[in-house]
Amino acid sequence: MACSILVVYHSQGGNTRKMAEAVVAGAREVEGVHVVLRDAFRATLADLIECDGLALGSPEYFGYMAGMVKDFFDRTYEPARREKRVFKKPYAVFISAGNDGRGALAAIERICIGYPFKKVYEAVIARGELTEKILAECRELGQTLAAGCDAGIY
Ligand SMILES: Cc1cc2nc3c(=O)[nH]c(=O)nc-3n(C[C@H](O)[C@H](O)[C@H](O)COP(=O)(O)O)c2cc1C
Repeated sequence: MACSILVVYHSQGGNTRKMAEAVVAGAREVEGVHVVLRDAFRATLADLIECDGLALGSPEYFGYMAGMVKDFFDRTYEPARREKRVFKKPYAVFISAGNDGRGALAAIERICIGYPFKKVYEAVIARGELTEKILAECRELGQTLAAGCDAGIY
């Protein structure tokens, strides 16, 4: 069966959305990979269980992840652990921040240890205006995650 990549994100102002779209574009460069893009508000436990790897995107709000991303974790954490079907699922993070991003990243990574997911790529953090360089890094994140999952190397 084709490898499936889930990209979950929240965005109020559009920056994290643009990063998510770049991650999706990168993942789609890997032939045969199925990519699902979900607003965190709509993402479900089934989305999480069905994917082979996931990319999580959040803006930093008040030194933390966006509430909607936290809500996704809150809704899926216990049932995912009970189902035991997310064990060490490969993941990567992308963050959009005004000038920092470390608080959001640390909070997400701490929770991902709990599921547990397996970090397979260094997080991309955008600070301030999105640049072509950051979007290229997001594409590379998506492509690497998808290629690794497809090849079964994680
Ligand atoms: C309510 C709110 C809180 C924010 N808090 C932080 C923060 O703590 N640190 C930071 O670097 N940027 C902060 N920012 C800036 C956002 O992280 C930044 O504008 C980001 O690109 C927004 O992403 P979005 O366009 O996907 O919503 C905050 C923005 C908002 C609206």
